[in-house]
Formats: sequence, structure tokens, C-alpha cells
Amino acid sequence: MISIEPLSEKDLPEVCRMEELVFPGSAWTNDMFRDEIRKPSSCSLLLRQEGVLIGYLVADTVKPELSLLKIAVHPDHRRKGFGSMLLSRLADQSRKEGFTKIFLEVRVSNSAARRIYQRSGFTVAGIRKSYYPDNEDALVMERTL
Ligand SMILES: CC(C)(COP(=O)(O)OP(=O)(O)OC[C@H]1O[C@@H](n2cnc3c(N)ncnc32)[C@H](O)[C@@H]1OP(=O)(O)O)[C@@H](O)C(=O)NCCC(=O)NCCS
Repeated sequence: MISIEPLSEKDLPEVCRMEELVFPGSAWTNDMFRDEIRKPSSCSLLLRQEGVLIGYLVADTVKPELSLLKIAVHPDHRRKGFGSMLLSRLADQSRKEGFTKIFLEVRVSNSAARRIYQRSGFTVAGIRKSYYPDNEDALVMERTL
């Protein structure tokens, strides 16, 4: 059984273990997640299969727009459609709540993420030069809901 629920503070120890695995060197800490999900403007989703943590995303909202800050799927469970499932749940839910656009930034070199975003209906809206701490450029992508 698959469940998709907002991320809650009790999930954070588990989420942080996966975060370290997925984003070594730039992982969000427990405090960063906690501060983010406590914001009234925060929107997050956590996907479990048979209770096992598979993936999560975190977005920030400024109505009528959302900004996707993070999406991760556990390395053992990639290419099975879970990332797409999280993105479509975010889109369906936020459309119902009156949001009209999702924005995100993605590393130019992150071809897996660029591909999933394209497949989920995002298009390139611009480029932010030297956006990341290592000076890599970011593509800004947007999806109209
Ligand atoms: C990006 C990420 C979330 C994708 O999750 P996922 O569950 O594997 O994605 P899906 O199975 O839904 O893939 C959907 C489509 O995206 C594309 N895609 C996903 N991973 C890909 C890869 N490694 N290479 C090429 N295309 C890829 C494919 O078109 C795929 O469809 P297909 O499997 O039918 O070909 C996952 O790779 C991840 O956690 N990466 C590390 C964290 C990250 O970079 N996050 C984004 C920046 S915050």
C-alpha cells in the first residue's frame, strides 16, 4: 500500500538519514526541515510503501505560486514512478487549492531531475548563472497548473 502524507516532525529522523544519503555534502539538517515544515507557507509530501520511506518533497508557497525546494527518492526505489507520483500529487493538490504555477531550480548537470520535470510538464523559464555554492548554473523551470 502506498501512502502520501504531509511530512511531520516525527518523520524527521528517518528523512534526515535518507537526506544524507541522497544529498551528501548539502543535506538539510533536522532543524532546517523542522523550520521549513513549521512555516504556514510550507507544503510537503512524504511517500511510503508498506510503511517504508520511499521519497519526499518540500515546497514553499506564495499564493498563487509554489516553489519546489526539494524532491528525493531513495536510491533503491528509483525509476519506478515514485518521483512522478509525488510531483503529480503536488500538482493536483495545489491546483485544487487555487495555485496556478510551480517553479523550481535545477542544476544544469542534473539530467535525471531535468528529465522527470520535463516529463511532468515543466518547461525552462530561464537560467540563474552561478546559482549554486560551487558556481554551477541553475535552470529555472515552471509548470502551469
Ligand atoms: C530526480 C528523482 C527524484 C527522480 O525520482 P524517480 O522516482 O526515480 O523518478 P521516476 O521513476 O518517476 O522517473 C520519471 C521519469 O524521469 C526520467 N528519469 C528519472 N530518473 C532518470 C535518470 N536517472 N536518468 C534519466 N532519466 C530519468 C525518466 O524519463 C523517467 O521515466 P522512465 O523511468 O519511464 O524512463 C531521483 O532521481 C532523485 O531522488 N535524485 C536525487 C535527488 C535530486 O536530484 N533531486 C532533484 C533536485 S532537488
